[in-house]
Amino acid sequence: MINTPVQHSESARLEAKVDSVLKRMTLEEKVGQLNQYSGFWDITGPTPKEGQAAKKYADLKKGLVGSMLNVKGVKDIKALQKIAVEQTRLGIPLIFGFDVIHGYKTISPIPLAESASWDMEAIKKSSAMAAEEAAAVGINWTFAPMVDVGRDARWGRVMEGAGEDAFLGSKIATARVQGFQGVDLAATNTILACAKHFAGYAFAEAGKEYNTVDVSETVLQNIIFPPFKAAVDAGVSTFMNSFSQLNGIPATGNNYLQRQILKGDWKFNGFVVSDWGSIKELVNHGFAKDSKQAAEIAINAGSDMDMESSAYVNHLVSLVQEGKVKESVVDDAVKRILKLKFELGLFKDPYKYCDENREKETVGKPEFHAEVLDMAKKSIVLLKNEKELLPLKKTAQKIAIIGALANDKTSPLGNWRIAADENTAVSVLEGMQNYKGNQITYAKGADVIIGTTAFVLETKINMTDKSGFAEAIAVAKQADVVVMVLGEHGLQSGEGRSRADIGLPGVQQELLEEIFKVNPNVVLVLNNGRPLAIPWAAENIPAIVEAWQLGTQSGNAIAQVLYGDYNPSGKLPMTFPRSVGQLPLYYNYTSTGRPVMDEPDSVFWSHYIDEKNTPLYPFGHGLSYSKFEYSNLVLSTPSFAPGGRLLASVTVKNVGKVSGKEVVQMYIRDLVGSTARPVKELKGFELIELEPNESKKVDFIIDQNTIQFFTANSKWEAEEGDFNIFVGGSSFTTLETSFQYVN
Ligand code: NOJ
Repeated sequence: MINTPVQHSESARLEAKVDSVLKRMTLEEKVGQLNQYSGFWDITGPTPKEGQAAKKYADLKKGLVGSMLNVKGVKDIKALQKIAVEQTRLGIPLIFGFDVIHGYKTISPIPLAESASWDMEAIKKSSAMAAEEAAAVGINWTFAPMVDVGRDARWGRVMEGAGEDAFLGSKIATARVQGFQGVDLAATNTILACAKHFAGYAFAEAGKEYNTVDVSETVLQNIIFPPFKAAVDAGVSTFMNSFSQLNGIPATGNNYLQRQILKGDWKFNGFVVSDWGSIKELVNHGFAKDSKQAAEIAINAGSDMDMESSAYVNHLVSLVQEGKVKESVVDDAVKRILKLKFELGLFKDPYKYCDENREKETVGKPEFHAEVLDMAKKSIVLLKNEKELLPLKKTAQKIAIIGALANDKTSPLGNWRIAADENTAVSVLEGMQNYKGNQITYAKGADVIIGTTAFVLETKINMTDKSGFAEAIAVAKQADVVVMVLGEHGLQSGEGRSRADIGLPGVQQELLEEIFKVNPNVVLVLNNGRPLAIPWAAENIPAIVEAWQLGTQSGNAIAQVLYGDYNPSGKLPMTFPRSVGQLPLYYNYTSTGRPVMDEPDSVFWSHYIDEKNTPLYPFGHGLSYSKFEYSNLVLSTPSFAPGGRLLASVTVKNVGKVSGKEVVQMYIRDLVGSTARPVKELKGFELIELEPNESKKVDFIIDQNTIQFFTANSKWEAEEGDFNIFVGGSSFTTLETSFQYVN
C-alpha cells in the first residue's frame, strides 16, 4: 500500500517561508508557538486548576498558543482556529493534537493486540484509517505510535506498545508512522505522527508507572532506541519525551537524548513535545528548583513544545532576556514547529481539516467497521487447543457463555479511546448470538470492575462477590461447551494502571475453577491489555484464546474465530510469565555465568527455588487450526564476509486440514561478543498462507546489518565469529544451524 515515507521538505523555499514568518515575530509570539494547552473539556492528565480556562482563552487571543490538545470535532476546532487565525496579530494557525492511539471513534484493537498480528500491511492500514477518521473531525496530529519496548507486564502501558522486541517493534513503528502520515502530509486524510516516549519509560523500576529508569547503554542502544530510530527513518514528524528519569536525568531535561542522539546523530528535523506537565515535573524530580529553571533546562535540552506546564509561556521571555537561554535556541524550536504547519498546508488553508460534510460522511463509516473487524481477527492468538474443542461446532450444541466481560460493550474498547462512545463495542455475547445454530445461555458469574470515565476507576462493585456463582454453575452443568470470557476490564491497563498482581482480577480465578469442576469443556477467552499470569488455566483448561481488547468489532471477531470462520494466526508480541515474580521476563535475555544446574540438586545456579525459569507462553507463540511442519533449514553458504550475505531457507508445510496463516520466525545467536549477547534475537519473519498439504520455501537474507549491534567500542558493528540461526513458529524454535562471519 504505502511504500515511501513522507519526505520532509528541506527546500530553500520552505526555509524562506518559515524565516519570513519568524522575522515578523516578537519574542513573546515565538514563545507562544512553543506553548501547548489542553482544551477545556477533555483532559488526559491531572485536572487543571480553576480559572485556567480563562487564562488559556486570553493567551490564545494574544497569539501565545501554538497548539492545542484534546479538542475534537469540527465545530470546536474551527472555533479555536478562528481565534488563532483571525484575532491574533500574525494569524498563525494552531495544530490540534489528540491521543488517536487505536482509532478515533471506530476503535481498532489496542496496539499490543494489533502487534500480535505480525501483519505490517494490516497495521499500516489500521493507522491510516484512524488518521482518516481523526482528520475528518479537525485533528491533525496524533500522539502515536508509542514505540517503547516493554518487558514488564506489570506496567499498564504495555497495551499501547508493540511488545518486548526491538526488531518487531521497529517494523511496527515504521508501519504505524507510515499509516498515520501517508505519503503526503498536505492531504486531508493524513496527520502528523509522534514517536513516544523518548526514552526508556517502559523500563520503569518494578513496572510501577512513572518510576525511575536505570538502564545500561547496551540496553538503551540495542533494545530501547531501535524503534525510535526506525520511526525517524520512516519520516515521523514529532517526538514526545517521557515523564521518567533516565539514569538520573529526567528525559524532558535530557540533553544527551534530545540533542545528542535525536537531533544530532539521527538528524531528526521535526519537533519534540514534552509529555503532559513533564517540564514542571522536573521540580518534583529534584532536577530544577522551580518552574522557571525547569523551562531553562528543558528548552536547552531540546524539548521544543511545552504540553500543559505553562513553564515556557510564563518564563522563556525573561530567560532569554536574562541570557540564560539563547534566542537562537527558541528560534530553532519555533522553526521546527512552523515548518510542520507549512507542510500540513495550514498556512494555505487553516480550516482544511474542518469540513462538516467530510466529518459527517467519514466518522464511523461502514468501511471502517469492516477494517477494524479484519484487524481484530488478525490480532487474536490461540494459546492452547486440546480435546479438539475449537473450532466450535455450528449446530445442535448447548453453549454456556460466562463472565461479565462477555456481556460488556465498553471494556473491549480498551484504554485510550477517548472519542469512542460507551457501549459501542460488539460484545462476545452479541457476536456469538449471530450464529443461530446453537442454543446459547449466558450467566455473569462475577464482576470484574466498572469504569465510568477513562480516568476514574470505580470499584463500587464488590469484587469479592460470589453471589453469581450458583447461576453460572447451573448454566455450565447443562452445556456441551462453556465459553468463559475473563480477564481485565479495558480500563485496568493503560496509563496509571500498573498492577502488582497480574492474575485474573477479583474472584474470576475461583469462578473458573468452580465451573471447570462441573464442566471441563471450557474455552477460556481472555480479555486483557497485558500478559497475564494464569498458570492454573494453562495447565487445566483445554482451550485458551487470547482476545485482548479488540475494539468496536470485538465480539464478531471472537465469534468468527471460535467458530472457525477465521483461522487464528496471531503470535504473542510479549512473553507470558508463570508468575509475577519472574518479571521482567523476555526471550532475548543474556546468559548468566550459571545458566544451568550442573550438579544434582545444587542451588548454585540462576533460578528460583519456587518457580520455573521458563515462561508460560513464549514470545512468538500462537497456534492455528492448521498445523505447520518446518523442515530443511539450509544456508546458501556457511560463512560470509563484510559486504557479503547468505540466504537461510526453510520449508514450511501445512499438514493440517484447513488453510491457514503462519508467521515464520528467524532468530540468531551471536555466540561470543565484546558485550554478552542475547541467547536469541528475532532477525526476520514472514507471514505466509498455506492450503492443506501445500508447502512453501521461505528465505531470509543475513548480512552485516542483521548481525550488527552496539559493541564495546560504542559503535554499531558486526563482529567476527560464530552464529547460530534458529527458525520456527515461535521463539521456542524447532530448527537450528550455524554460520560464520569472517572479517
Ligand atoms: C500523557 C501520556 O503519557 C502521553 O502518552 C499522552 O500523549 C499525553 N498524556 C497527552 O494525553
